[in-house]
Amino acid sequence: MYVLGIESSCDETAAAVVKNGRHILSSAVASSLKFHRKYGGVVPEIASRKQLEVIAQVTQEALNEAKISLSDVGLISVTSKPGLAGSLLVGISFAKSLSLASDIPLLGLDHLYSHIYAGFLNNRNIRLPFIALIVSGGHTSLYEVFDFDKIKLIGSTHDDACGEAFDKVAKILGLGYPGGPAVERMARKGNGNKIKFKCSDTDNPLDFSFSGIKTAVLYYMRKKSPDSGSISDIAASFQEAVIETLVKKSFLALRAKKSRRLVIGGGVAANEKLRVKFCQRAKKEGISIYFPSKELCMDNAAMVAGLGYRLFRKGHLSDLTLNTAGQ
Ligand code: KG4
Ligand code: ZN
Repeated sequence: MYVLGIESSCDETAAAVVKNGRHILSSAVASSLKFHRKYGGVVPEIASRKQLEVIAQVTQEALNEAKISLSDVGLISVTSKPGLAGSLLVGISFAKSLSLASDIPLLGLDHLYSHIYAGFLNNRNIRLPFIALIVSGGHTSLYEVFDFDKIKLIGSTHDDACGEAFDKVAKILGLGYPGGPAVERMARKGNGNKIKFKCSDTDNPLDFSFSGIKTAVLYYMRKKSPDSGSISDIAASFQEAVIETLVKKSFLALRAKKSRRLVIGGGVAANEKLRVKFCQRAKKEGISIYFPSKELCMDNAAMVAGLGYRLFRKGHLSDLTLNTAGQ
């Protein structure tokens, strides 16, 4: 079965065709990033207007590349929460119109769950249940996944999301937006052990807090002296501390839930240093670890189509009253 996935939860407008939940036939992504750059972050009003302009074209592109027409599509799967309300409504409204006009079943789903599913697109042998860590620009969460319609949140951030902390630290260091890739590039040239940054502790050890470390970087920059280290040392030391926390809490979750499988997803999971550190620890502890390809860590519609297929097969379906639950 061909599933058309549509994703518009943040600044991207994405459409993809996936066959039987596994085979990506196309994955088109249009970003309005360049229009937000001068503001140092995503401006919701600009994002939704750009999405409205390009969504039909991006969808047509995905169908063309997959060499199928709309009448071949068995399900339209769309991100319905969480995210920017205006942006989500563009995707949902468009998906509803296609569904109504072409009489194709419709399914709205959770963006974060689709990030969990992303790992399934390039790893065929992941068995349920498992622990999932999602590290994106808006969320940082640990889940116990029994099945894709039985997901339990076991930890989340009290303040900034992990990707948001990367973005804010990039701004403090004058590295531009989006911050994650910029911090990673700068960190490659630095010494991650130069400065002892630390993420704040939380009452629930599986929760996260990233706003303290971001402020610590800000204060460090303000009173920086010639022997404080370079910008690359600061970027590397921040990245080191964040990754250390993510690894520590994920392995704590695995132990607490007696699980041997870890699936990681979301934009920050594209970070090479993070991937290496997680793999080293997993090898040491005999844990099976799964990452999506770097491309599929970022927002895309293939993961939406893939998860849609999986849930549809289990009997899930939306109707034309589908709405967004917002952030
Ligand atoms: O999952 P995603 O594409 O969008 C959301 O759902 O938020 O994640 C975007 C976030 C941004 O904060 C971005 O700075 C961060 O992921 N990111 C990275 C890297 N690439 C993207 N953070 C650290 N290292 C990277 N290489
Ligand atoms: Zn995302």
